[in-house]
Amino acid sequence: MEEPGSLAAAVEAGLRGTGMASLPAGVQRLMEAYRSGEVPAAPVLASAREAAAYAAYRMPATAAATSAAFAQLRLALPGWAPADVLDFGAGTGGASWAVAGSLDAVRLTLLEQSAEAVRLGQAILAASGSRSLTGAQWRLWRLAGGDAPAPLPARADLAIAAYVLGELTAGQQEHLVGLALRAAPVVLLVEPGTPAGHRRILAARTQLLAAGFAIAAPCPHQLECPLAVPGDWCHFAARLQRSALHRQVKGVELSYEDEKFSYIAAVSPSAGGPDRPAGRVVRRPMQRKNLVLLDLCRADGSSSSQPVGKSKGEIYRRARKTSWGDRWDGHASTEFT
Ligand SMILES: C[S@@+](CC[C@H](N)C(=O)[O-])C[C@H]1O[C@@H](n2cnc3c(N)ncnc32)[C@H](O)[C@@H]1O
Repeated sequence: MEEPGSLAAAVEAGLRGTGMASLPAGVQRLMEAYRSGEVPAAPVLASAREAAAYAAYRMPATAAATSAAFAQLRLALPGWAPADVLDFGAGTGGASWAVAGSLDAVRLTLLEQSAEAVRLGQAILAASGSRSLTGAQWRLWRLAGGDAPAPLPARADLAIAAYVLGELTAGQQEHLVGLALRAAPVVLLVEPGTPAGHRRILAARTQLLAAGFAIAAPCPHQLECPLAVPGDWCHFAARLQRSALHRQVKGVELSYEDEKFSYIAAVSPSAGGPDRPAGRVVRRPMQRKNLVLLDLCRADGSSSSQPVGKSKGEIYRRARKTSWGDRWDGHASTEFT
């Protein structure tokens, strides 16, 4: 497999010459736009300054989250590898970077409304050392508002939209999900791991199910989400190492961060049925003396804590190695203490 080099190095290479000095102001502007929680009236990454800030501040985390979600999607579709990928709202290429990182070769088409994000994304991908990424096709593309369904921009084996739905009105979100499910037999949507991000994922999940798609991940079932209750929401965490530049723009010392994300992956009937696990670990497991507590979403649509005691031998050892977001196969409904 031809793995891309380090994303941090490629981001720095892409930013060279664009004026690192403007990063703090760009980051400030980005944070204001994202923290407001409002659908932006104008593209957030419209200027070179904001596109640069996005690449330095957010792209490593969105790439890490998409990579984790894509890995779970592939576990649900053994033997499947997309040859063509369509990346809606590609920004500076974070989701495409994540997907290319685990595939031998893939044709990538990145659709993005901001010319500045496209320009910087091209420079970042050019420094990747991966043929799939350097050969990616970029297209300036904007999902319009309004009621008319948007025309299909292209077809692919996989359609992704990572961290895009939150920048769209409810009507646009529906249009984008509709486009994605018409464009490809496999759809992966990733959002921030917040209650609002999860609500958008749930709306997309309903739409995908209504279109006949089957849920591949993270849900081990197609019933109502047991985590859609006040005070709870389904989300996961992807750990990423922070580069010096990443630490600098964030003004932090810690060498890593955990990006929280929510996601949904679904497949059309033509893509075959997904292999869903008996359970999914939906919180960070708690390790106690001789005991692991796994919070599971289960195939029967319920969610509860599963204690796994040391006396269970191999199952206990497996539970100790299981992480938040992992599948829990085979033994989700038996008592293990
Ligand atoms: C938060 S960024 C995510 C970028 C990338 N997918 C990632 O994961 O890093 C959201 C992207 O969606 C794009 N976007 C937002 N609204 C859009 C629209 N109506 N049409 C096309 N792209 C849009 C923005 O320009 C921005 O690049």
